[in-house]
Amino acid sequence: MQDTADLSTSKLGTKKYWDELYALELENFRRNPQDTGDCWFSDSDAEQKMIDFLVDNIGAYRITEDASVVDLGTGNGHLLFELHETEFQGKLVGIDYSEESVKLATNIAEATGVEDFISFQQADIFNSGWNPGKFDVVLDKGTLDAISLSGMKINGKLDVVDVYAEVVEKILRKDGIFLITSCNFTQDELIEIMQTEKLKPWKAIKYPVFQFGGVQGATICSIAFVKQD
Ligand SMILES: C[S@@+](CC[C@H](N)C(=O)[O-])C[C@H]1O[C@@H](n2cnc3c(N)ncnc32)[C@H](O)[C@@H]1O
Repeated sequence: MQDTADLSTSKLGTKKYWDELYALELENFRRNPQDTGDCWFSDSDAEQKMIDFLVDNIGAYRITEDASVVDLGTGNGHLLFELHETEFQGKLVGIDYSEESVKLATNIAEATGVEDFISFQQADIFNSGWNPGKFDVVLDKGTLDAISLSGMKINGKLDVVDVYAEVVEKILRKDGIFLITSCNFTQDELIEIMQTEKLKPWKAIKYPVFQFGGVQGATICSIAFVKQD
């Protein structure tokens, strides 16, 4: 699989970009069912680390084997398909605003016989009418990164990044966990964006750090937040 973590251009913030990408991935999948598309942050093994984190923390807060899980900006749904291979056997839902993503992920689910466990829905998560109910676990792998490149405003004024925490809060049960992986924001920036009265940082996933010019850092970070109320 190819790693696609270079977020240097703002075209990654447009729906057109994602529609075209997933339409191509769908065509590839129809030709070769082994080809289920790109995996974001595969260089850093982020997907496996997120899954290991959830498995290791079963029993904490609302992380249980039958936890309901929603993946925001699910793309090809790979994270959910892999999660379903573990202890997690609850309701798994992938959301994406790209119809082509939903077609691709649904095709993969049907081809692999997991459509009764994992479903995909098309929705723009910033649409105020979007209300998928409440979940025990909310996941984001690269979605806030893409969103931050969109320059989208809510009601013409509020930056979408600034309302992302509200969106997550709306769909998270009390004691529910939000686990996010980003390559565009540092750990401190993610906390600044996501922390609210109710949503508090809980744990971070460790990645190898680099050292450059006396500065230490990681190219990617994953943080779990817990909804306290
Ligand atoms: C960087 S990709 C990550 C895809 C997937 N999470 C992964 O790790 O492979 C960002 C995803 O967010 C979706 N997305 C961007 N803005 C969205 C929005 N407002 N509502 C729902 N999905 C959105 C895009 O269609 C795309 O699939």
